[in-house]
Amino acid sequence: MRVLGIETSCDETGVAIYDDDGLVLNNLFSQASFHNIYGGVYPEVSSRLHLDNIIPLIKSTIEESCLIGKKRIDAIAYTAGPGLIGSLLVGASVGRSLAFSLGIPVIPINHIEGHILSPILDNKNLRFPFLSLLVSGGNTKLIYVKNFHEYKVLGRSIDDSVGETFDKVSKFLGFGYPGGPIISKLAKNGDKNRFYFPRPMKKNGLNFSFSGLKTSVFNTIRRNKMKKQTISDIAASFENAVADVLVYKTKIAMNLTKANRLVLVGGVSANSYLRYVMSCEMRKIDKKVFFVKKEFCTDNAAMIALSGYLYLKKSIKFKHEMVVDANWSISEI
Ligand code: KG4
Repeated sequence: MRVLGIETSCDETGVAIYDDDGLVLNNLFSQASFHNIYGGVYPEVSSRLHLDNIIPLIKSTIEESCLIGKKRIDAIAYTAGPGLIGSLLVGASVGRSLAFSLGIPVIPINHIEGHILSPILDNKNLRFPFLSLLVSGGNTKLIYVKNFHEYKVLGRSIDDSVGETFDKVSKFLGFGYPGGPIISKLAKNGDKNRFYFPRPMKKNGLNFSFSGLKTSVFNTIRRNKMKKQTISDIAASFENAVADVLVYKTKIAMNLTKANRLVLVGGVSANSYLRYVMSCEMRKIDKKVFFVKKEFCTDNAAMIALSGYLYLKKSIKFKHEMVVDANWSISEI
């Protein structure tokens, strides 16, 4: 069984193939450099770039896979939401047309489910249940993953996502997009205790809020002369505050669900400081923590192809009537 996956929910055009032996190919055209000048993703530019790149990427992926003797495709899986509507429509139109012309099933995949399942790409034997901390550009969520297709959202951000907050802080400091890797690099030379930024821990139960933290960083930048060391100290202090909040709420969720395994997914889970702090804290309470290979942290088609493969393999009914839904909640799958 072999599934071709298409990802176009935001600013990464992805095409991948997953089969019974695992991941065959994972190709990506990253639009990040095109959005850099806007300091964030420009939706219109994103859909146009998907349109330019999706067919050449599918073509090269199929050609490459033929080279290694993998010819037949049994189904097409594509990201149907949540995401930017114009971008989703590109992947949906191409994926559905391709499936129609080949006479094979088409599987609309929820992007969040793709992230939740992404650790299986690295670790086929990852056992359910586990707690998933999804930290990306569009989402900050704590999800209890009882089994494949059985998800319970325990907490989410009530305002900005963590990734968005990293991107905004980078912009405030005069740097580009995506901000996460830039802040992470700056923070390596900074003093994480020089500035104290708010940590909204006690409020909102298991929900997160990052807008106060973002405003506080903004005000600190305005009040201080931006010397090289100050910039690094702000980056490190900000990263430290983010990690504290994520660790605090995650620990409560681990206790609540009695989960023994934690999996960090999404673009921000590539952050090395967060990985370090989370590993230390989980070790203290005797829980296992899993991370995803960096190429699978940010948006990619491998996780979409894998999700489609699992739907097909387990014969779980997927939403046939679904085409795209920019606000498709993981609770509704
Ligand atoms: O998972 P992703 O591609 O987007 C969504 O599915 O929404 O994540 C992109 C986000 C961006 O906000 C980017 O700044 C952040 O992940 N990111 C990082 C790092 N690498 C990417 N944030 C913190 N540290 C990193 N090393």
